[in-house]
Amino acid sequence: MSNKPLAGIKIIDFTHVQAGPACTQMLAWFGADVIKVERPGSGDVTRSQLRDIPDVDALYFTMLNSNKRSLTLDTKKPEGKEVLEKLIRESDVLVENFGPGALDRMGFSWKRINELNPKMIVASVKGFSDGHHYDDLKVYENVAQCAGGAASTTGWWDGPPTVSAAALGDSNTGMHLAIGILTAIIGRQQTGRGQKVAVSMQDSVLNLCRVKLRDQQRLDRLGYLEEYPQYPHGTFSDVVPRGGNAGGGGQPGWVLKCKGWETDPNAYIYFTIQGHAWAPICEALGRPEWIKDPNYSTPKARQPHIMDIFATIEAWLADKTKFEAVDILRKFDIPCSPVLSMKELAADPSLRASGTIAEVPHKERGTYLTVGSPIKFSDLKPEITGSPLLGEHTDEVLAELGYGKEQIAALHKAEAV
Ligand code: COA
Repeated sequence: MSNKPLAGIKIIDFTHVQAGPACTQMLAWFGADVIKVERPGSGDVTRSQLRDIPDVDALYFTMLNSNKRSLTLDTKKPEGKEVLEKLIRESDVLVENFGPGALDRMGFSWKRINELNPKMIVASVKGFSDGHHYDDLKVYENVAQCAGGAASTTGWWDGPPTVSAAALGDSNTGMHLAIGILTAIIGRQQTGRGQKVAVSMQDSVLNLCRVKLRDQQRLDRLGYLEEYPQYPHGTFSDVVPRGGNAGGGGQPGWVLKCKGWETDPNAYIYFTIQGHAWAPICEALGRPEWIKDPNYSTPKARQPHIMDIFATIEAWLADKTKFEAVDILRKFDIPCSPVLSMKELAADPSLRASGTIAEVPHKERGTYLTVGSPIKFSDLKPEITGSPLLGEHTDEVLAELGYGKEQIAALHKAEAV
């Protein structure tokens, strides 16, 4: 028996850019047969976006489409529609993240797909949810971060709303969609019916901003937020402010300079002052007198001096690299981490050993690095294979659908594949 739990699940991957492809790539790692349907000639726009090697699929594409097969198909041509109909009859899931209404305009509404295959699960990413007053908008990553509350709560209080480098709008939405698809597959085992699964980028961003909605309600009631840097010296308006690098929970934290920060943009650590760790922190800093000092002994007492405390820690860090500092602090059970650059992460031996950073062979570009599965199983080690070339599996997929050699040649001649 296969140890890939999704083996036997066939997915029509009508996705492009990042949100949809991140979802289907993960399902492919776990064993699903993911057939990426792409427009003949051009394919997913990310194949050619931000290329680092002329005429070779860009990393943007290769890093989001591993373990898939590529079928080129012009679904606006009658011959292409016929192929898609056959594929729908034989598949379990169709995933798409077209602009609003595109699938319907193509002639494949949920109703039509359901007629063709009542067991089919149709999973969609859109910028805004169905019925939302912005549901006609096309949406990209940073648009979603602004619409979902991340931008208004990220950055510095005296600066503009700021987006995160993490793909909260794109890959995060894809991960939500994967949960929805797996839930619908389990639901189908119970009912025998497929269903429509829809995730909006705005909703997915907001889901990750849950604690900021918590803070809005606390602010409404209290007029201040005790863990924000604005408290107690600054002022609050009636909206959750941007808190710089403050921690989102009850533990104050900050990004602190280490040795070399003047020339190295990442010579910093994130340091968290957790209640239980206060005594060890004082010991580590050589300030044992702070342990019992009423000005410092409780989180509430510390808050008015929190920036002075961080300045003291920075002075202690001045002759230590970020790695040396963490090696000392970890002995005191203090939650902290070096701020790691992409270069450091790419070379990290632990991430390489766990498969989180994976080196993948590719037919045209040699090997490239990708982020492998962040989910680890005891009985499954996802093997990451290179992304497919455009149309690499067209004939193979058509043959599996029952097309003979001459019919395949005719589809090529009609430029439908
Ligand atoms: N054969 C024929 N036509 C195809 C096709 C194929 N294989 N694949 C796509 N198309 C057509 C679509 O049918 C659509 O045609 P229509 O608008 O004439 O009906 C057209 O290509 C464009 O699709 P669309 O998805 O709207 O592309 P876009 O480049 O204009 O917009 C996005 C890109 C990402 C903004 C948009 O797809 C979107 O908002 N998606 C939902 C949210 C999302 O996922 N955002 C991106 C996250 S990374």
